Amino acid sequence: MSKGTLAVLINSTSQNWLPARWKTRFEAVCGGRRVALLPDTGLDPAEVHYAAVWKPAPGELAAFPNLRAIFNLGAGVDALMADRSLPDVPLVRVAVPDLTGRMTEYVVLHVLMHHRQELYLRRSQREKRWEPRYQWPASAVTVGVMGLGTLGADAAVVLRRLGFRVAGWSRNPRAVEGVECFHGTPQIDAFLRVTDILVCLLPLTPETHGILNRDVFAKLNRNSPLGAPVLINAGRGGLQNEADILACLDDGTLGAASLDVFVQEPLPQDSRFWTHPKLVLTPHNAADTDAEAISAYVAEQIAQFEAGRALENVVDRARGY
Ligand code: NAP
Ligand code: GLV
Repeated sequence: MSKGTLAVLINSTSQNWLPARWKTRFEAVCGGRRVALLPDTGLDPAEVHYAAVWKPAPGELAAFPNLRAIFNLGAGVDALMADRSLPDVPLVRVAVPDLTGRMTEYVVLHVLMHHRQELYLRRSQREKRWEPRYQWPASAVTVGVMGLGTLGADAAVVLRRLGFRVAGWSRNPRAVEGVECFHGTPQIDAFLRVTDILVCLLPLTPETHGILNRDVFAKLNRNSPLGAPVLINAGRGGLQNEADILACLDDGTLGAASLDVFVQEPLPQDSRFWTHPKLVLTPHNAADTDAEAISAYVAEQIAQFEAGRALENVVDRARGY
């Protein structure tokens, strides 16, 4: 009996997402299963049992009548949630140590960059100025992590280990050792009040859309040892009100920001973010999905599923993440 095809559907032009490379990796780990790169005019849609996808266009997955599971090749499923015709089969997201470790690297890099005054020190170097400013210890700074899930909880633990005070905010009550945990709308103000560096690792859902706005920034610790609070967003661009971020950087409500994600990607050439002196930006590469690690993760899950065991990291469609 045929094993059922794994269809690979990738809508991205960046180097990490070269579709041919993903196909080769899937073929190496899928034990003889046919792997079809879409679009494939010779493919019978009925033979597709599994789909591994990154940003498929709405409607693309509805073409497969015998689909058994969808594997999103990233942690965030907001692009899939927007597809009203998404087949009603389990949707699995990425939650693996490889991706988690990459995001924690990004968070630590950017928290330390702002804490250790790197924007000021690089400017001093360019201007040949030997003028060190007082350096606070990590223990004087509170990093507030919005989203205490797979990624946020790991970053919080590593930041604690570096000596920062760490607070976290989630939807439901969470416990992370050494982290002051807050949850839900009633506790968000208390979370923001203690926060000097706000790290956002929330999923984009109808509830979190636009949550990074002036109201929130104005509630951050106004007596921050950094001078003014700092924003780091590596969640999704839709979480942020970009006009508010620019205005708050300009008027000092925010002292600086690191952004990895944007409402429109690639970031348009005329965006003020490119040249803003208080902003550090990266092109949505805080935590790449590694073809080797993630193809193995998907192949292992398919094997488990076909052996009658449960899939892991299945998205709760009602919550949207
Ligand atoms: P996750 O394990 O699902 O965790 C999500 C966290 O957000 C949970 O703690 C959840 O609360 C919290 N949350 C969700 N809705 C909330 C709400 N309305 N109010 C308060 N808290 C809320 O997700 P993850 O694996 O950590 O990934 C987080 C996001 O990172 C992804 O969705 C994706 O958008 C982004 N990401 C970006 C990159 C990049 O390269 N920039 C890479 C990977 C992922 P509960 O714990 O109570 O459920
Ligand atoms: C990347 O943005 C991801 O969601 O994994």
